[in-house]
Amino acid sequence: MLKGRHLIEPGDFSLDEIESIMQLADNIIANPEGYSLVCKGKLLASLFYEPSTRTRFSFEAAMLRLGGEIIGFDDPSNSSVSKGESLGDTIRTIECYSDIAVIRHPREGTARLVSKFAKEMPIINAGDGGHEHPTQTLTDLLTIRKFKGGCDHHVVGVCGDLLFGRTIHSLVKMLNRYQGVKFVFISPKELRMPENILGHLDAHVYTETDNLDEVIGDLDILYMSRVQRERFVSEEEYLRLKNYYVLDKKKMKNAKADMIVMHPLPRVNEIATEVDDDPRAVYFNQAKYGMYVRMALIAKLLGVEDKK
Ligand code: CP
Repeated sequence: MLKGRHLIEPGDFSLDEIESIMQLADNIIANPEGYSLVCKGKLLASLFYEPSTRTRFSFEAAMLRLGGEIIGFDDPSNSSVSKGESLGDTIRTIECYSDIAVIRHPREGTARLVSKFAKEMPIINAGDGGHEHPTQTLTDLLTIRKFKGGCDHHVVGVCGDLLFGRTIHSLVKMLNRYQGVKFVFISPKELRMPENILGHLDAHVYTETDNLDEVIGDLDILYMSRVQRERFVSEEEYLRLKNYYVLDKKKMKNAKADMIVMHPLPRVNEIATEVDDDPRAVYFNQAKYGMYVRMALIAKLLGVEDKK
């Protein structure tokens, strides 16, 4: 039963619960009209303390497409945060007006912290610093199901900024719960997967390399990621590493015919635009699935999943 629960990291939900969200997302995709009023009279608070395009717009579109409404901010300087109000007081106040809240914040652990202040209102983590991004993971799982038929038994290459990439941290921990998934972590040594994530994995399920060309032919899924400028202490270090990997048509020639390329977006230079027309490039499909899976999540957490 997901009604009333928070989603702070993917481990908060069992595989069965995640499967139920995927099935509801499938039903919504098949029959969006049937779900267009299930959130009538409900309000979603959208609290973005950090920039976002996909997550904020897809959550807001999701709530509107379910017949609900939204309040919130994407610039905290327009809220009483700018007067020094604490996050706890902000959440306790927003709970007076809203049925569910989505929060993105640059500081790791913020979503978990604020969830302690919400007595009845489900809190959804829309990304907390370099920590977790669970709804991107739901998006990624739905995309993998749609293009690869399921999440078991894939070789998944994860390439780019593995140190700061919160979408990657959430996805790797999640996919490790499926059967027979093997990871190839592809990064410069400065941006290696952190030990706290590797610690979740058995040594035999992953390898590490800095050479994308050498491994691309082995992969079923290539998950590219942006070098996260906003998390670097040194601009010089960012500039040195930002173009370490650029996936282009030449590299794609060595990939399997049915490999898929995923990316949580935004991209900067790490995938050349010439790859966008390759049928294996599914990152814009992924962005679209993000809205449907968030519709399913909202409906589940509000307990309104039965279509009208
Ligand atoms: N994937 C993702 O989180 O994108 P935004 O930062 O645009 O929300």
